[in-house]
Amino acid sequence: MEAAALRVGGEVALAANGAHAGSSGEPSPKPRTRSDVRIQKAHDAAHAALTAVSSYLDADEDLPAFFLRLGEAIAEQVGAAKVAFWVLGPRGALTVQPSPFGFGETSPIHEMRLEIEAGGERVMEKVVFRDDLQLGRGTSVELDDFWHACGLADVKSSIAVSWRAGERRIGAVVAYHSKRGFSANDVRVLRLAAMATGLVWQYKEAEDELAQTAVRLEETVAARRRLLNNVAAGGDEARRRFASAIHDDSLQLLTGAELQLERIRAEANGSHQAVQLDQLRNTLRKVEDSLRRLLINVSPEALELRRDLKDAIGERLESMRLSSGIETHSDLRLPADVPEVIEGLVMKNVSEALTNVEKHAHATRVIVAAESMDGGIRVQITDDGTGFVVAESEHLLGHPGLLAMRERAQLAGGWCHITSEPGAGAKVEFWVPQSL
Ligand SMILES: Nc1ncnc2c1ncn2[C@@H]1O[C@H](COP(=O)(O)OP(=O)(O)OP(=O)(O)O)[C@@H](O)[C@H]1O
Ligand SMILES: [Mg+2]
Repeated sequence: MEAAALRVGGEVALAANGAHAGSSGEPSPKPRTRSDVRIQKAHDAAHAALTAVSSYLDADEDLPAFFLRLGEAIAEQVGAAKVAFWVLGPRGALTVQPSPFGFGETSPIHEMRLEIEAGGERVMEKVVFRDDLQLGRGTSVELDDFWHACGLADVKSSIAVSWRAGERRIGAVVAYHSKRGFSANDVRVLRLAAMATGLVWQYKEAEDELAQTAVRLEETVAARRRLLNNVAAGGDEARRRFASAIHDDSLQLLTGAELQLERIRAEANGSHQAVQLDQLRNTLRKVEDSLRRLLINVSPEALELRRDLKDAIGERLESMRLSSGIETHSDLRLPADVPEVIEGLVMKNVSEALTNVEKHAHATRVIVAAESMDGGIRVQITDDGTGFVVAESEHLLGHPGLLAMRERAQLAGGWCHITSEPGAGAKVEFWVPQSL
């Protein structure tokens, strides 16, 4: 027991050095002097605390069980009957970490909320915020009085140290009831244990944060998946309505007009109008052909009827070749089992890129290449046309084609790059994951 009142604060370095002195891996020589005993004890405490801490990290033990076991180990090191870990809450109240060692289930400690303030001068405020404790005659009288006032009437002796994890203030570690009386060395040992336990707290916080991040990530992925399905379904719905408008209205009217024309043509046989009527009939047939091609391109049923994405792209290229005379090449090495929504997305982007080539590029040649890459599908559409300034063309009002390609790819968790320069053709390249 220390005779004179002693202020113990900021001595972790000393204790840690003491611990270091005996940590060479060799069995420690038998301590001879009082100072040797102190160093040996600090070493044992550090060893016990770190062993307990690393066993928690290995064993996946739940936290209350761990703190009970750690409390017991610390109690043994400092000669205490009870040890409690007090946690500082966000509103400045200390509550005890579940399963404090040595306390019965009915102890009032479990229900206590100790309000403390950062600038306060009461003993626990000094311990938590400044790691400052007055020790004399085997205890801290001030601290004992504090516990009595809080409702722990049977406290006979106690010591406490600040509990931190790096810069984070967690609360305090308190040891109660020493038969032989607490010494300044016990305070140092307690401080070492608190430091080691701070590691567990940090680890637990990181683990909780990771779990929360994983949940948030899962929610985001699910939301993205829902959105993507909605976008795909929304697009399909719009296409369905458009296709039925073409099919049920425009084509019906056109067929009616063609039939009428046939009748007029029959009546006009041999007259000077016959040639003009023949020209009109050819024009109407061309209109009908182009409407039917449009129907094939916009109707989702048309896509569903095809065997797979490769055929759908192949047909789109063939129809492009026939209508525009652009030479088409393809190298499609597509994986099997691609979800429908991804297939639809790839098809939409390929269609948009090819329509752009037809509409804007004045190209003579276009190449579509697709392959499996990094768990997804990479597609490249390259033309040898006029090219364009990408930065200027991506945000044209009323022309959302390029932007939509990029957004569709990003929505699925992929990317889209467009490379072009005036006079140098254009390349659209995108990647989408193969599964959602
Ligand atoms: N392959 C290409 N070659 C040359 N210019 C292109 C090519 N692709 C796009 N562009 C240019 O980029 C502009 C923007 O293309 P985007 O697809 O966004 O719009 P759009 O095709 O004009 O209209 P829509 O929104 O109906 O697709 C086009 O107007 C065109 O000037
Ligand atoms: Mg376009």
